[in-house]
Amino acid sequence: MTNSKEVIKESYAKAIEKATQGESCCSPVAAETESKDDSCCSTELSLAPKKKEIKVPSFGSSSNLAKKAGIREGDVVVDFGSGPGHDLTEAAKLTGKTGKAIGIDMTPEMIEYATNLAEEMSLDNVEVKLGDIENVPLEDNIADVVISNCLINLTFDKKTVFEEAFRILKPGGRLVDADIIAEQELPESLKNDNEAWCGCVAGALTAEGYTEAIKAAGFVDISIDIESKQAGRIKWKDGKEYLMNSGIITARKPN
Ligand SMILES: C[S@@+](CC[C@H](N)C(=O)[O-])C[C@H]1O[C@@H](n2cnc3c(N)ncnc32)[C@H](O)[C@@H]1O
Repeated sequence: MTNSKEVIKESYAKAIEKATQGESCCSPVAAETESKDDSCCSTELSLAPKKKEIKVPSFGSSSNLAKKAGIREGDVVVDFGSGPGHDLTEAAKLTGKTGKAIGIDMTPEMIEYATNLAEEMSLDNVEVKLGDIENVPLEDNIADVVISNCLINLTFDKKTVFEEAFRILKPGGRLVDADIIAEQELPESLKNDNEAWCGCVAGALTAEGYTEAIKAAGFVDISIDIESKQAGRIKWKDGKEYLMNSGIITARKPN
């Protein structure tokens, strides 16, 4: 495996810099997987409490994840790989002041962007932490909901990521993961390609792969809702075409 967390950090530091300058934030591979409605690398509108519209770059695979996650007032929400902070700030608005939204990201440039965004929106129930979701800097049993948008496919140790989500969730808490889902096993040459990994393709599991890893961490009630079937087609060097879906995977920590 030539991929490393340093390569991913560098890639997302560049992506947020480009997005801030108004350029497309997608790698060519990610652009190919972009679905028509739920987009990777779109710009989403956030309405601040005073109704001021702020355009936030989004690198997710599903739009409006905070709403889809069924976040309730008073919830503690943790956003794995919160990036520029679109879902994070939307989640904070849904939890209200009696709850909070905590974002974790390993790229300092993303942390800076999300921190400024929350400040600009006057959301004081947002916390943004620099950290690796394979070793989450939070206590056990503190979250009602863990969300993540196009992040888990980027991680190298998915088993640990799901175990970390399980650890920080309260009993009965929910995991809501929007992700890229491979329609079939991907070849090693594609899995080892840096650009394809950073573009959210090479590290994607199949639906069975995600289900198995989530179940192994202790979750129950696992379901996968495919939002966009064959959202992307990767024409690979081996002459074959690999199909990628995007969807939302939900699961619950037992009571
Ligand atoms: C595809 S972007 C998605 C960002 C955000 N969720 C969104 O929808 O705009 C993936 C984000 O995950 C972060 N990331 C990747 N691997 C990570 C890890 N192991 N720990 C923490 N953050 C990670 C990257 O820095 C990047 O900001």
